[in-house]
Amino acid sequence: MKDNLANLGQLLADDKESLAKRFRALFTLRNIICPESIDAIGKVLINDESDLLKHECAYCMGQMKDPYAIPYLVDTIKDEKQHPMVRHESGEALGAIGRHTDEILSLLQKYSKHHVRELSETCDLALDRLKWYNESNGDKNPESSSPYNAVDPTPSYPDSMPLKELESIFLDENKSLFERYRALFTLRNIGTPEAVAVICEGFFGSPSDSALFKHEVAFVLGQMQSLDSVEALTRKLADLEENEIVRHECAEALGSIGKSEIIRKYLDDKSRIVKESCQVALDMADYVNDESQFDFLSNKAD
Ligand SMILES: [Fe+2]
Ligand SMILES: [Fe+2]
Repeated sequence: MKDNLANLGQLLADDKESLAKRFRALFTLRNIICPESIDAIGKVLINDESDLLKHECAYCMGQMKDPYAIPYLVDTIKDEKQHPMVRHESGEALGAIGRHTDEILSLLQKYSKHHVRELSETCDLALDRLKWYNESNGDKNPESSSPYNAVDPTPSYPDSMPLKELESIFLDENKSLFERYRALFTLRNIGTPEAVAVICEGFFGSPSDSALFKHEVAFVLGQMQSLDSVEALTRKLADLEENEIVRHECAEALGSIGKSEIIRKYLDDKSRIVKESCQVALDMADYVNDESQFDFLSNKAD
């Protein structure tokens, strides 16, 4: 086990390896929750050249929910040289771990006023989630009722809420992101073609709408893997004016739906994040299209 961990850590940190292999190593490490695996992920989070891989490291740390990861995440949020997407994912991971000490609270408060919009919005969301939880006097579950195997950044509303009401909250750019995210996760949980159509509309609001919001829309569409979203995801990926965080998430969503032919067109994209997302998305598409491809690392880690 220790040898396997060391090998996986080496593979994850090896920038001569393909990103697809490094991602597979990361996903295997994520399932082995111990200080050694978190150190291996943390090292890459702090030092690597690929912002895409780094943001995935932060995401995995949040999903592992082990407070041992907190110092790595705090350092990343504070580091002005880190890419906004990496800092955002670190903030969200802190929220997913859910240890709100005074130090973390004051960090979230401080960075909720930061000029990097993706970072300030993430910290605002985490603070709103905590407020929601505290107001319930502990009788609400801070975990959402996600049917997916992931910790959502906000809770959802009850599934019985009418679609029209959810739609109007979701698309209202004057509402808080916390409310719009809640509507988004509820629409996802409802999961009908009508709900998918409303979610896709989230991409096409005003030009000043939040990139963070749109990237979450793409992320959720990737979770849902609905063919009904392919057109909207393709349109957003093709929009070169769009924030690379949004385009990156569209590429990965198309990968999880198995759409290799669309992703291939962006393998030389000007944005490194989008280009690398397409490399990883192609690997995901292979996996979706052929289950037998993905086994080598999960076997190795036993
Ligand atoms: Fe994110
Ligand atoms: Fe992402």
